[in-house]
Amino acid sequence: MIKAIMSDLIKKQILIGISGGIAAYKTAELVRQLIKKGANVRVCMTPSACEFITPLTLQALSGNPVHTDLLNRNAEAAMGHIELARWADLIMIAPTTANFMAKLAHGHAYDLLSTICLATQAPIHLAPAMNRMMWANIATQENRKVLINREYFVHDPADGEQACGEIGTGRMLEAQELASIIENMFTKKQPLSGYSVLITAGPTREAIDPVRFISNRSSGKMGYAIAKAAKALGAKVTLVSGPVALDAPAGVQRYLVESAKEMHHQAMTLAKTADIFIATAAVSDYSPAKISTQKIKKSTDILSLELHYNPDILFDVSHHYPDLFTVGFAAETENLINHAKQKLQRKKLNMIVANPVGNNKGFDKDTNQLEILWENGHISLPEDNKNKLAKELLLIISKHISKDS
Ligand code: C5P
Repeated sequence: MIKAIMSDLIKKQILIGISGGIAAYKTAELVRQLIKKGANVRVCMTPSACEFITPLTLQALSGNPVHTDLLNRNAEAAMGHIELARWADLIMIAPTTANFMAKLAHGHAYDLLSTICLATQAPIHLAPAMNRMMWANIATQENRKVLINREYFVHDPADGEQACGEIGTGRMLEAQELASIIENMFTKKQPLSGYSVLITAGPTREAIDPVRFISNRSSGKMGYAIAKAAKALGAKVTLVSGPVALDAPAGVQRYLVESAKEMHHQAMTLAKTADIFIATAAVSDYSPAKISTQKIKKSTDILSLELHYNPDILFDVSHHYPDLFTVGFAAETENLINHAKQKLQRKKLNMIVANPVGNNKGFDKDTNQLEILWENGHISLPEDNKNKLAKELLLIISKHISKDS
């Protein structure tokens, strides 16, 4: 009798990376277990991994050709590094050697596996395995920190007897533990799984001439914190960002823009496929009527600039896509709640988040204070770290959405 597979891994596309360590023999068992749970598994090996275990073993277990070469014309024709990077729902590199951690931490791309890691948007899990002294070495520990900060999932090695005969920390986690870690990633039903969230963030820049522009003090921190939290809560996240000094959060598709008009164009296009739109951007209300093609010279005592009103991105998105759940921000220096309520109605929003600015509050800070308002309700979130507030705001949004749908 064939037993039905009950697993959250069914049809999930798992790319197993193997770098060159003795623990590679355990990875054969990991692949076997994932296949048993119904996953589609492909394997990519570094050249030194092939010295420890043959690609043929992994091919037989995964039922797919094994990828080893960055510059192999035939392999590229079948499924090249970019396709593999896109194909994967999750990447697990087991074992990850000290050398491979260093490569990832420095963004190298001179073998197929590290190239895939740079090109993918899938979550990357690492199962390090190495001699205990190599693990404890400050260089490895620094690399570990860098990778964790870049949202790699690092599953630290266990204590025990090592292949080299020493006893200490460095043994790769067992195949069964790694298989459970992978399965758990797909099991958790997250509050925003299945939702597509579009966020605008940062300031805009309105050019005056080739070297000057009008802008504001927005750092983008609140919008980026929301993007990161939405991703962690299971959403597909797209960020349209003005110029900021922040990196795109892992797994978030970012479109960089400069002016309000560019942001308007991107947001209107991307909103078509979104479920939730959160406008945190501090969009310049006005832009110069004419952008001088040459640098404006000092020629008069008084220089006047004619400014024209910019499109209101949030207003246009919410009116054009009435089914979209729209959330606006209202940065106010006075009459916070009243002004926010007016914006909620005028811009036809589902929710507005008011926050006080000025007096050293709001802009370019790591903390914020939020008043969240909707048609018949109001929640105050006292001053806190922007990351924490972002998560709380999204949980409130997720409750409203599930009520609506
Ligand atoms: O009208 P006000 O600028 O105060 O509204 C703030 C809200 O509207 C924010 O959510 C902001 O991102 C959005 N906005 C916009 N496009 C503009 C001006 C504001 O999307 N041109």
